[in-house]
Amino acid sequence: MVKINRRQFIALGAAGVGTALVGHWLGQETISSQPLPSSSASAFGVYQSRDGLLELDIIAKENPVNLAGRQAYLLTYNGQVPAPRLEAQPGDKVRLHFTNNLSQPTNIHYHGLHIPVTGNADNVFLHIKPGEKLTYEFQIPPNHPAGTFWYHPHLHGLVAEQLFGGLAGLFIVRGQLDEIPEVKAAKEEFLVLQDFAVDNNGRLINSAHMSLMMGREGDIITANGQVNPSLSLPEQRLLRLRILNASPSRFYRLSLENHSFYQIATDGGALNEPIEVNELLLIPGQRAEVLIKGDRQPGQYRLLNLPYDRGGMGMMGGGMMGRNNRDEPIVLVTISYEDQGQSLSIPTQLASISALPEPQTVRSFELNHGMNPAVGMAFLINGEAYNHDRLDTQVQLDTVEDWEITNTGMMDHPFHVHNNAFQVISRNGQPESLLAWRDTVLVPRGETVRIRIPFRDFTGKTVYHCHVLDHEDLGMMGNLMINA
Ligand code: C2O
Ligand code: CU
Repeated sequence: MVKINRRQFIALGAAGVGTALVGHWLGQETISSQPLPSSSASAFGVYQSRDGLLELDIIAKENPVNLAGRQAYLLTYNGQVPAPRLEAQPGDKVRLHFTNNLSQPTNIHYHGLHIPVTGNADNVFLHIKPGEKLTYEFQIPPNHPAGTFWYHPHLHGLVAEQLFGGLAGLFIVRGQLDEIPEVKAAKEEFLVLQDFAVDNNGRLINSAHMSLMMGREGDIITANGQVNPSLSLPEQRLLRLRILNASPSRFYRLSLENHSFYQIATDGGALNEPIEVNELLLIPGQRAEVLIKGDRQPGQYRLLNLPYDRGGMGMMGGGMMGRNNRDEPIVLVTISYEDQGQSLSIPTQLASISALPEPQTVRSFELNHGMNPAVGMAFLINGEAYNHDRLDTQVQLDTVEDWEITNTGMMDHPFHVHNNAFQVISRNGQPESLLAWRDTVLVPRGETVRIRIPFRDFTGKTVYHCHVLDHEDLGMMGNLMINA
């Protein structure tokens, strides 16, 4: 069965440095490893759980990395950009031996995973100083949905800077969706989208030179750490792309020449059935899974990032750093046909998401920005900038709430809630017909989005925030207490 393969703890160091680190760890702990076949666009490290355990060393450090054909000094997990891909299954235990070799404090957030928010799990209040170690340990609940999740730093004030340095990796939970025959037979590829800004010496450009109000964007736009890598699409078959927007601010409006996307999953896992779309807007923090049919004239097709205007503040708009995707399409990946036999069709049924019960509580949140006499421009939720010591929202475990989020500002804000996925109920009063689990939703300027969240399984303090991470660092975050 496929499960055997999944349970193997597999380590592949595409970069030499990655291999050395992995080898070191494996040597100490006598965990067997086996390389995965590499493919052009996903040649980075992969670790899979074995016998119910995913265990590895993760070291955050600055490291020379090949970026767009040049050496750049990026912030990495295990020397790699993007970071190693982690894969586990529902019910698995995860143990990550983390070392902070950065020059700043940091921590790790497991974006989208439904796991404890306290202790050494998805606790964004941990503060791991330079040189310190911490072992993250948690279990993926046995009923956790399969999906495309990710991990990145989450120390308030430094999140945008550390993510923009490169610290981000996929965390895949394999389960039911992966067993659907057509999905299983599809060729699977991963796309981690990141943008970077480095100077002529390959050093990260200082935040003082970035447009923090707009949210920093870089002019080097990468998929899996490469500029315009190639992928192959099997003729008459299906390509399954699992895409993550790991950029701190950049929006990706994706379109593949002459092909549509059959979206099969959102942030929180499978949709009930595939939906055919020509464009896919992926805002910071979001993931999507799509199937692409290789049923066109064999050849090369470009995956484009189309222009998108996410607003701005007068002269602030547009960002100061190089290419912004307001005006011109940018080629992200080139996809070429490869010869294959036997055709494959799009599956019909994927999951059975049901609508949530009516909420016990309805709350309103207003997103805006303003001047804070102490720090200058601040990004606000309900008129207040983030305060570590204030509890902004207290909810009761095992209840369902509706949150009505209104953006009265001049820029679009991707709203993200930690720990519990939600369903979008309406946009500007218009009921949402698509049933889907999400953890990040776009609240465009001038608009209102209503989401419905069930608070399940875990109590404790966590956060919700704008996923334009400069906005988060500049105050657009609130503390959420889930009470027993
Ligand atoms: Cu991906 Cu609180 O973030
Ligand atoms: Cu924002």
